[in-house]
Order: sequence, then structure tokens, then C-alpha cells
Amino acid sequence: MGKRILITGVAGFLGSHLADKLISQNHEVVGVDSLLGGYFDNVPEGVEFHVLDCNDRAVIDVAKDIDIIFHRAATAYEGLSVFSPHMINHNNFQSTAQLLNATVTHNVDRFVYTSSMARYGTNEARLKKL
Ligand SMILES: NC(=O)c1ccc[n+]([C@@H]2O[C@H](COP(=O)([O-])OP(=O)(O)OC[C@H]3O[C@@H](n4cnc5c(N)ncnc54)[C@H](O)[C@@H]3O)[C@@H](O)[C@H]2O)c1
Repeated sequence: MGKRILITGVAGFLGSHLADKLISQNHEVVGVDSLLGGYFDNVPEGVEFHVLDCNDRAVIDVAKDIDIIFHRAATAYEGLSVFSPHMINHNNFQSTAQLLNATVTHNVDRFVYTSSMARYGTNEARLKKL
């Protein structure tokens, strides 16, 4: 039986492709995106789409009756945190905390987060060994 799945960042690269795939597998997809970086045209047909910032409390309501949350919303520009720490904190850290809050509030079965290899840096010690 299909699941009811929430994807944040559904107007972005990963979120929109994931939505496509899940819809083709007959899952019900609910999507959230602030359109800060993504495009409305990316949102696949069939997605119940909410233009919403993940930090908005309304996200908690959207997560009601959801089986799985894929959290893909982010401002994913390497190095930007040095110049725009407030924006990065808002869109990456705070929004993740809000989604975890929604997960706990509604006993969502699974929360899937996609980070980036970039956060581990170049790991000089390991590179020297190679
Ligand atoms: N693209 C890749 O190859 C790749 C690989 C590994 C990991 N990731 C990670 O996956 C995540 C998504 O990457 P992407 O390439 O799809 O980025 P993207 O910029 O294409 O999509 C991110 C989406 O999040 C939305 N967004 C940003 N802040 C928001 C907020 N506060 N509330 C609601 N929506 C918000 C943007 O509008 C955008 O549509 C990032 O964390 C990235 O580091 C990406």
C-alpha cells in the first residue's frame, strides 16, 4: 500500500526528482518549499504542494498523518555560512529542528535527512595516507 510522504525542498533538485520517483510508485506526496532557491516548475504534477518555510509552525500541521519525512530543504552553498551565518542557520539548522519537532509531534515512522560529504572537509590526514 502506498505511503503518505512529506518532502521538504520539493521544488529543488533532489526533492523534485525524489517526488517524481515516489509518485511513480503510487505513494501520496506532500511537498513543502519556500521557493527561496527552487522553482515552482520543478514540482511534479500530483504533489500536494505548500509554499511554506520549514520554520513556519504550519509545517507541524502539514506533517499530520505522514508516514515518512524526507528533509531535503536547505541552502546548500559550500562556504556561504561564513558570509551569511543567519541565513544558513535559519534554512539548515533551525528548519531541521522544526522538522524533527514535527516528526516527534505526530509520531512519524521515519525521518530521512540528506546532508553532504562536503561538511567533512578534505580530511588532510587521510589524503596524505593515499
Ligand atoms: N544535489 C546533490 O547532488 C546533493 C548531494 C548530496 C547531498 N545533497 C544535499 O541535499 C539537500 C538538497 O540539495 P539540492 O541539490 O536539492 O538543493 P536545492 O537548492 O536544489 O534544493 C533545496 C530546496 O530547499 C528549499 N528551501 C531552502 N530553505 C528552505 C526553508 N527554510 N523552507 C522551505 N524550503 C527551503 C529551496 O527553495 C530549494 O528548493 C542539501 O542539504 C544538499 O546538501 C545534495
